Amino acid sequence: MPLIRLAYASEATFEAKPLEKGIEPHVARILLVSRRNNAKVSIVGGLYYGDNRFFQYLEGEEDAVRKTYERIQQDPRHRNVRTLIEEPIADRTFTNWSMKYVPASADVQAFLARHKLSEFNPVAFDSEQCEEMIELIRRSSQDQKSVNYDEVNRKTSPTPQTLSPGLKIGLVAAAACLVVALIVVATML
Ligand SMILES: Cc1cc2nc3c(=O)[nH]c(=O)nc-3n(C[C@H](O)[C@H](O)[C@H](O)COP(=O)(O)O)c2cc1C
Repeated sequence: MPLIRLAYASEATFEAKPLEKGIEPHVARILLVSRRNNAKVSIVGGLYYGDNRFFQYLEGEEDAVRKTYERIQQDPRHRNVRTLIEEPIADRTFTNWSMKYVPASADVQAFLARHKLSEFNPVAFDSEQCEEMIELIRRSSQDQKSVNYDEVNRKTSPTPQTLSPGLKIGLVAAAACLVVALIVVATML
């Protein structure tokens, strides 16, 4: 099955909310679903969200990428979806990332400054800028620091960090019984 790569630009339709754990909450939900779905069909890539706009890069088997892109295009959370790149590739260039997230970082600011761009407007990127953006996503190591997939997951299935009061009482009672038993045994010797 042939491999393709695809990049597009779009505008978010939602109003950006304050970041939660380093990520806009709408974007966090998009990432959760993307990572789950993309992993199933071996799609890899990255997503950048800035100035209320998206730049997304996808690569994988042609069928899977096209079907995913069709779904993405129908999504009401963004509009004016414009394809920037869509072409065959010989090999995969992203490894182990069902959907890498790049937070607004110094790298992106430097990229915008280098191209004298006052805001992140990927629909106006030329092909060189697209390639730079893809490379930036590929190289980004910030995602693990500021957007941890598990952290987003933890919100829906919290892992207890402390012992529950019932368990604490049980443990104290068990310890007390043990001490009493030791004292009784000691007096019998
Ligand atoms: C900017 C943006 C990027 C998205 N990227 C992906 C993606 O890479 N993979 C994916 O499956 N869904 C992605 N989605 C979500 C899809 O539009 C759609 O909601 C989702 O695939 C539905 O999945 P479900 O049928 O499992 O609920 C994206 C949505 C937006 C707005």
